[in-house]
Amino acid sequence: MKKAINLLLLFCVMIASAAAQPTRQMMDSLNRLTGLDYRNMLNQLHITSLRPGANGNDPKAPNAANYDEAKANPYSSLPDPLVMNNGQKVISEQMWWKKRRPEIVEYFDKDIYGRVPKNMPAVSWQVTQVIRDTVGGIPVITKKLTGHVDNSGFPSISVDISLTLTLPAKANHPVPVIMEFGFVFPVGFHFPQMASGAVSSKEPSWQQRVLGKGWGYAILLPNSIQADNGAGLRKGIIGLMNKGNYRKPDDWGTLRAWAWGASRALDYFETDAGVNAKEVGIMGHSRYGKAALVAMAYDPRFAIAYISSSGEAGAKLYRHIMGETVENIASQSEYHWMAGDFLRYAGPLTTADLPIDANELIALCAPRPVFIGGGSKGDGWVDTRGMFMATVDAGPVYKLLGKKSLETDVFPPIETSLMDGELAFRQHRGGHTPVPNWPYFIQFASRYFKQ
Ligand code: GCU
Repeated sequence: MKKAINLLLLFCVMIASAAAQPTRQMMDSLNRLTGLDYRNMLNQLHITSLRPGANGNDPKAPNAANYDEAKANPYSSLPDPLVMNNGQKVISEQMWWKKRRPEIVEYFDKDIYGRVPKNMPAVSWQVTQVIRDTVGGIPVITKKLTGHVDNSGFPSISVDISLTLTLPAKANHPVPVIMEFGFVFPVGFHFPQMASGAVSSKEPSWQQRVLGKGWGYAILLPNSIQADNGAGLRKGIIGLMNKGNYRKPDDWGTLRAWAWGASRALDYFETDAGVNAKEVGIMGHSRYGKAALVAMAYDPRFAIAYISSSGEAGAKLYRHIMGETVENIASQSEYHWMAGDFLRYAGPLTTADLPIDANELIALCAPRPVFIGGGSKGDGWVDTRGMFMATVDAGPVYKLLGKKSLETDVFPPIETSLMDGELAFRQHRGGHTPVPNWPYFIQFASRYFKQ
């Protein structure tokens, strides 16, 4: 099943980038280029081989993914977001902002998601089309936008970020906007319970729910910023900045590039009179959930986030060994999401050596509200419990900044909404889908955004 979803996602990515069905030849070439890039990075790191990841497809495999909580906690402690690298305890808000937070950011930059180049070029946004329409009976105006990245430094690579913004047509003041990292589907294709966001035809889609609140929504296409594969690392925004060369070990990976693109979309919102840019939320599911969390952590202008089934390299604790592991993320099919340096933790180093954990990524979002969600049956790979544990362990930073955390460390029964504080958590009954948690996230966001 996991394999099928991955193939389907790859297929969608190919559609997005090539606007055509991937042929066998295209797939072969993609795999070959990815292999070359992967080996180049391993060579730079002087690594000859990495440990294999957990096998999520065959429970009888020797490296079968673990789903037994009794075996999931081999590490006695987690990095503490409120203890400085020199062992000093963080005791004031000022100490968090001035001293500890930069230390954590540096770890994420260097070893996990990579560094964004210093000399990022300008992005100029253009409205390419304005469409008047109705969504669920509500009149809307949709703007199709392209964010052209100045590529004068290396004209053979161009990057045009694709964004759509839909606002209620009748709004007479700037409205909050929820922006989703969107999957791209071929015309006529519907990913069950994902593409439209509707559970069934009777249920309103998340877009309808958002409009129902008087807010707008935006869809950002990650693959227009950076392709979702290793083969694409010498193209897209990462390739543009490297002038078509291979990455260095601490260069940014795709998650960071997607997050950078989200920040550029937010730059545009700051110029659009219809948007209240102080009330822009970011949402993503699965790999895009990881990207949404990275965007939220790094860009303090995002007001709120819905992080759905983000799993490993997202909100899940690396040190909670359930479902996907560090070694999977370091594999050829996913390493491009991360800095090259991350691969060391699946080779000479281990999970225990990671200087950070996901609780600290969530802590970087403090004091802003974050809703972490996941499924139950069928969503084991992303380890919803591990995401809960990380959320709990981000709590002390929210408290230090005068906010409420989850206020419990007991993993709640399915469909229990823990959302009284600025950190929220909910495990829905479904599988690998953001849909069932949307209404709860919107309820959570309503506490912060006006109607
Ligand atoms: C794979 C991958 C996950 C990712 C997921 C998705 O399963 O291992 O890390 O979250 O794809 O994006 O759907």
